[in-house]
Amino acid sequence: MTLTDRLEDLDPQIFELIQRETERQESGLELIASENVASRAVMEATGSPLTNKYAEGYPGKRYYGGCEVVDEVERLAISRVLSLFGADHANVQPHSGAQANMGAYLAVLKRGDKLMGMSLPHGGHLTHGSKVNHSGQIFDSVQYGVDETTGLIDLDRVRDIALQERPKLVVAGASAYPRIIDFAGFAQIAHEIDATFLVDMAHVAGLVATGHYPNPVDHADIVTSTTHKTLRGPRGGFILCRQELAKAVDKSIFPGGQGGPLEHVIAAKAVGFWEAQQPSFKEYAGQVIRNAAKLGETLLDRGYDLVTGGTDTHLILVDLQSKAYTGKDAEEALGRVGIHINKNTVPGDPRSPFVTSGMRIGTPAVTARGMEEDEMVKIADFIDRVLVSPDDATIASVAAEVCDLAEGFPLYAAAPTP
Ligand SMILES: Cc1ncc(COP(=O)(O)O)c(C=O)c1O
Repeated sequence: MTLTDRLEDLDPQIFELIQRETERQESGLELIASENVASRAVMEATGSPLTNKYAEGYPGKRYYGGCEVVDEVERLAISRVLSLFGADHANVQPHSGAQANMGAYLAVLKRGDKLMGMSLPHGGHLTHGSKVNHSGQIFDSVQYGVDETTGLIDLDRVRDIALQERPKLVVAGASAYPRIIDFAGFAQIAHEIDATFLVDMAHVAGLVATGHYPNPVDHADIVTSTTHKTLRGPRGGFILCRQELAKAVDKSIFPGGQGGPLEHVIAAKAVGFWEAQQPSFKEYAGQVIRNAAKLGETLLDRGYDLVTGGTDTHLILVDLQSKAYTGKDAEEALGRVGIHINKNTVPGDPRSPFVTSGMRIGTPAVTARGMEEDEMVKIADFIDRVLVSPDDATIASVAAEVCDLAEGFPLYAAAPTP
């Protein structure tokens, strides 16, 4: 064994699994709204020798020597994310969206303090105060949801809960909400009760970066995000905040919650932030939204119900309550033809989160492969055919068509695997 052995020779088992997963992604249609396709450049940075470096601390103030180069990397990532979103301060070290949220919460809250976030079954995220997550265990969490008839966030109701519960932190942002969130309205409510206002923009960060979704930095004290969803960078997180909170946020991430930052991932984040500033990425983000709208309209035409009737974003939420199958059935049947969506609760869902009455469908990954509206019509047709008659003959014929469509849009435009 040497340091220069190729993976293929050194560890054929893992090599083969990576080949299989690449092939699975290549031959299928990824419609999971939180997934995307990172560029080769992003993957190159992630796979670089920067993984070898310990750099606890922050640029210019590290606990280890030899950090002069990674300091430049991290400074570049910070300046790029700040120019992308226009905040006072950025921390690019969170290993993930969940770490970013917990780091941000603990910068402004103590154990037992009250936090208000959107409930998971109504489209919020686990880390917004769910009882199965540390955010709902360490803090006293109260939850708001959507109006079960319209599927929309009702700010009057949010305000009522806020005035009654008086949380110290108000969290806006979601994992399965297809509409624009009124950040200014939330900010007003938070200020009325002297609460800190945090927006988790993980899902829509790529749309925000390109001006296709309102920028929460204009309204929130803290903004958290992932880098790997619509933003199309490596898997990871970051935090933006007002200058007054910068010290507390930085201390909360390190030494509060993490050890050594992943400088190879931070380098890849910097690449992703650069990519997101390019005109082609703006075009991409616009196409993501047009594709989601087209997919939604086509499914509506075929008799499907959409929560809120449509979308302003990269995702649609299909309500299957009028159908004979559950979200779980749909996920399984579509998985058999290589279409990957996820089962999702819908507002007021009578079924458990393991079964659900809905499916969430997103367009970031298929759009990254170059698909446009025509392909969305085809995908809606595949989905409908499979759900209407999930028999072996239909599955076989749709699976072949999915393969054909996917083949026409290679993940990495036919470049050889490194
Ligand atoms: C709104 C939101 N915040 C945070 C997260 C957590 O991100 P991660 O999976 O990187 O921890 C997610 C993940 O789906 C999310 O949708």
